[in-house]
Amino acid sequence: MEIALLHTHSLLRWLVVGFLVIAIIKSLSGWFGKKDFTKPDNIIALLLLSFTHLQLIAGFALYFMKGWSTQLTNMSDPIARFWGMEHGFTMIITIALITIGRIKSKKATESIQKHKKSVIFYSIALVLIIWAGIVKPMLLGKGLI
Ligand code: HEM
Ligand code: HEM
Repeated sequence: MEIALLHTHSLLRWLVVGFLVIAIIKSLSGWFGKKDFTKPDNIIALLLLSFTHLQLIAGFALYFMKGWSTQLTNMSDPIARFWGMEHGFTMIITIALITIGRIKSKKATESIQKHKKSVIFYSIALVLIIWAGIVKPMLLGKGLI
C-alpha cells in the first residue's frame, strides 16, 4: 500500500510538471500573441489542478504512513529534515500558488489577464517543484547530499 502510494506520488509529479509546462507555454503564447483563453486552456488548467490536489492528498498520506511526522526532532539529519519538513512545506506553498493562480485566472474577465495570471503563478510554482520535487529528491536518492 505504502509502496503503491509512493509510486503514484512519484508518477503524479510528472503529470503535474507536464501540465504546468503546457499551461505556461500556452498562456505565454496567449499573453504575447493576444489570443483568447479557450476551452482547451480551461481543460489544461482543470487537469493541472486535479493532479496537483491529488498530489497533496497522496503526500500527506505518505508523510504520516512513512513516519516522517515523528522525525521533526531529528533536524540535524539532512534526510529527516528534507522529508520531515522542507519537501512538504515547499510543496504546500507550490500547491497554494497553483491554486491561487487558477482562481485569479478564472476570476479575470479579459483573456490577456487570464493568461498573465497563469504564467506568473505557474512559473514560480514550476521553479519550486523542480527544486524540491525533482532535483533534491534525486540527489538525496543517489546519496549525493
Ligand atoms: C485536501 C484536499 C483538497 C483541498 C484542500 C482542495 C482545495 C481546493 C481549493 C481551495 C480550490 C479552489 C476553489 C475555487 O476555485 O475557488 C480547489 C479547486 C479544485 N480542486 Fe481541489 N482540493 C482538494 C482535493 C482535490 C481533489 C482530490 C481533486 C480531484 C482530483 C481536486 C480537484 C479540484 C479541481 C478540479 C478544482 C478546480 C475547480 C475550478 O477551477 O473550477 N481537489 N480545490
Ligand atoms: C506538487 C507537489 C509534489 C511533488 C512534485 C512531490 C514529489 C515527490 C517526489 C519526487 C518524491 C520521491 C518519490 C520516490 O522516492 O519515488 C516524493 C516523496 C514524498 N513526498 Fe512529495 N511531492 C509533492 C507534494 C507533497 C506534499 C504536499 C507532501 C506532504 C507533506 C509530500 C510528502 C512526501 C513524502 C512524505 C514523501 C516520501 C519520502 C520517503 O519517505 O521516501 N509531497 N514527493
